[in-house]
Amino acid sequence: MKVLVIGGGGREHAIVDAIARDKGVTIYCAPGNAGISSQAEIVNIKSDDVFHLLRFADDNKIDLTVVGPEQPLGAGIVDTFESRGKKIFGPKKLAARLETSKVFAKEFMKRWKIPTAASRSFTIQQHKELLDYLGGEKYPLVLKADGLAAGKGVSIVESARDAEGELERIFVKKVFGGAGERVVVEEFMEGVEASVFAVTDGRDYVVLPAAQDHKRSGDNDTGKNTGGMGAFTPTPFLNQGDLDFIKSAVIERVIEGTSAEGYPFRGCLYCGMMLTNDGPKVVEFNVRFGDPETQAVLQMIDSSVVGLLEASADRSLSSYRLALNGSASVCVIAASKGYPDYHENGKEISGLQSTLAGTKVFHSGSTLDGVRILTSGGRVLGVVGTDPSGSIGAAAQLAYKRLEQIRFDGMFYRHDIGKRAIEFEAKKGNSL
Ligand code: AMP
Ligand code: GLY
Repeated sequence: MKVLVIGGGGREHAIVDAIARDKGVTIYCAPGNAGISSQAEIVNIKSDDVFHLLRFADDNKIDLTVVGPEQPLGAGIVDTFESRGKKIFGPKKLAARLETSKVFAKEFMKRWKIPTAASRSFTIQQHKELLDYLGGEKYPLVLKADGLAAGKGVSIVESARDAEGELERIFVKKVFGGAGERVVVEEFMEGVEASVFAVTDGRDYVVLPAAQDHKRSGDNDTGKNTGGMGAFTPTPFLNQGDLDFIKSAVIERVIEGTSAEGYPFRGCLYCGMMLTNDGPKVVEFNVRFGDPETQAVLQMIDSSVVGLLEASADRSLSSYRLALNGSASVCVIAASKGYPDYHENGKEISGLQSTLAGTKVFHSGSTLDGVRILTSGGRVLGVVGTDPSGSIGAAAQLAYKRLEQIRFDGMFYRHDIGKRAIEFEAKKGNSL
């Protein structure tokens, strides 16, 4: 079997690594990165170059294409591939709107009574009306640019003045370009976040172990919002009752709603949940695997991962049996100084060779320079520790031990990934 994975970050490295567990699979990755090149043949085509990706898949008789990032999904890569009879994992363009337009996602949730924060949407033409509205609201409030903004389109504002400043950036300075033509103003929710991934074929679905991301750049959730600085799974904060509620009130309604509206969702539905005192509510949907959560979550799966992705693309999930191994996994991101703002690239990475049992290093932003591996992004590596007995504390210890062996100029990472879950585990242990 020949599989093409599209993307070049830590998520795609973890997907390639998981697919490689099946014997007899030849893996290609476009555009990949230095780390991925040890497990897949690198294809030098950008992940949003749908035309050349299709040509590559045709020429090389690719049996299954797996899309990592959201941009090609938003551009309709699945529609294009399927119209040419090529099997591909991911949602079509209309279903991808659950991520590519926050206004669409909120309206969809209202139509299908999916629990989420109360919200109103405004267009750029309604700037004045929005300012009046903001004057009469309680704070904090959440402002979200409608379109894709690489995780940077959301801001939590503490006052009408803050909100005005943020709107100036979105509507006048147009920092998000077209993605900021509309905004969603949303009630601020309090609680613990959980990322729940449902892989679906448009009818059946399987839910993977829930994870928690750490979005802020600094320890104890200080600093700027990032694409994610680390994750752990399974999250002890999501109990069975809440998970059952998320299945029936979120996942099944998305499957039913997208189907009824004529664009059945296939692929990975990422439910970004807030576990509030009023029960779980949707913070956001993504239409692909999350990064860095996937780097940890895929370590938990014993059954065939390529089989899971193929069953989603094939509409045959009803006969797929997910098997989990009962471990716990923690991923810590090593980032470049300055991230999520300006950072330098081209720093040599050392210490990648060691093979500490129970750890893996996935590359997010790296490039080959002869025999050297250089940094080429804000998020550079995802260092994953996995504990077979299911202890998040032990998994975190492994990840941090492995991190100590790795160096590059300007490297930084958070020291508290999983900390709250570890404290929670300890308390639970004491009360047994
Ligand atoms: P999003 O891109 O929608 O996931 O938002 C990024 C981050 O902003 C989320 O992971 C939350 O931490 C935070 N956030 C978004 N919406 C809300 C909300 N309504 N209430 C509280 N925090 C939020
Ligand atoms: N971990 C957040 C995301 O993938 O969007």
